[in-house]
Amino acid sequence: MLRSREKSNVHFRKAVKRLPLGVASNFRYWGEDRTIYVKRGKGGRMWDIDDNEYIDYRLGYGPAILGYADDRVDKAARDGMEVGGVFALSTELEHKVAERICSMAPAAELVRFSVSGTEAVMAALRVARAYTGKDEYVLVEGGYHGVFSECLWYAAVEGWDESQGDPELLPYSEGIPRLYSHLIHRVPMNDADRLERLFKRHADKIGAFLVEPMMGNCCSITADRQYLEDVRWLCTKYNALLIIDEVKTGFRVAKGGVQELMGVNADLCTFAKSMANGYPISALAGKEEIMRIIGKRVVHGGTYTAHSVALAAADKTLEILDETEALADIADYGARLREGIGKILSRRGIPHCFVGHPAMSGLFFASTPPDNYRDWVHTDYTFYKALAPNLHDAGILVEPDSREPWFICEAHAENCLDETIAKFEQALDVTLEQRGKCE
Ligand SMILES: Cc1ncc(COP(=O)(O)O)c(C=O)c1O
Repeated sequence: MLRSREKSNVHFRKAVKRLPLGVASNFRYWGEDRTIYVKRGKGGRMWDIDDNEYIDYRLGYGPAILGYADDRVDKAARDGMEVGGVFALSTELEHKVAERICSMAPAAELVRFSVSGTEAVMAALRVARAYTGKDEYVLVEGGYHGVFSECLWYAAVEGWDESQGDPELLPYSEGIPRLYSHLIHRVPMNDADRLERLFKRHADKIGAFLVEPMMGNCCSITADRQYLEDVRWLCTKYNALLIIDEVKTGFRVAKGGVQELMGVNADLCTFAKSMANGYPISALAGKEEIMRIIGKRVVHGGTYTAHSVALAAADKTLEILDETEALADIADYGARLREGIGKILSRRGIPHCFVGHPAMSGLFFASTPPDNYRDWVHTDYTFYKALAPNLHDAGILVEPDSREPWFICEAHAENCLDETIAKFEQALDVTLEQRGKCE
């Protein structure tokens, strides 16, 4: 069952001479002898340079909603290539894609494009500050919003002693100015009283509340409907903008994203991953009155914004997600995957639960789902960590870290379900055997 990693490992030793950690993003480094180099992807599958085949539930951290190298989207992208790339001018297609986003996402009245999710969230925060005239902002513990200093902070819950108050707020890395910590307030998810107390003390300084209601970087831990309604109400009451980061949930968990699912509209929202099946484009959208300050009082732009290839890919991807049953099929597959895996775990008496939407499920080894990031430490995430490499060896690609959900694409439905369930069972038994030996 062990896969060969020879070529990937040889390549790692070459790559590391020119690329820090041998990769183009820290998160792609899985260790000196476990870093994967990709040959190609098609549908719900991916092949590495050792010709190992994987059913892929990472999907590039979510973007490949239809599957890798989708023929319909790639044809549109090739047509987009003919347009010529970027001109430092606008094209008509921008308006068409913006119209589509506004018809799908309930809170979107106006749209601006960027290249990455990070840029869209950066723009949202800037707009919120300009609109409210207040610089401070609230982050929810366990959330992730991109690689920029304002949001690269986390609550250190591992090893945290609850009796000592809140977990420490730490930067993800060196080089992040400490001064940002003076602008940040952070709260645990699903505690509206706590948020209200915060607003009561600092409402004159807080301009934005930034949240992923289904935390795409924290096992899809999900906000209660009531909590989100309370958040909406509190933001309005205390004159802070509600920014819903739908970079992972947008055009995935419903046509109108998590906002449609929960019936709550943000002031500003951000989209990226699923909107172009992996081509680099993102969007900031929101209420007209707020978005109109862009261009008047707020700067927004970028050389590669609305590149003709990515824009054409977005046009086609959104058309498919809007006009076909793709999202329903994805949810159905996700539900059947949960059921199949759940039966295997239950047969072995392993406590577990699934969290979030079936299109992006978090799998926990605990009998009740966590309500917030602080609860996550009470789940057996070390078991997940032990299981993941065995899943890789069996040909099932998931993130080694349990905080990343399992992403489903439309192409998985073709022929991946039974194979995944069978391989999950094999990998699980290997893990249990390894654990047994350690105990
Ligand atoms: C919720 C959320 N916001 C923002 C980002 C940043 O997006 P990008 O990696 O495209 O910059 C991510 C990336 O995973 C994300 O999950």
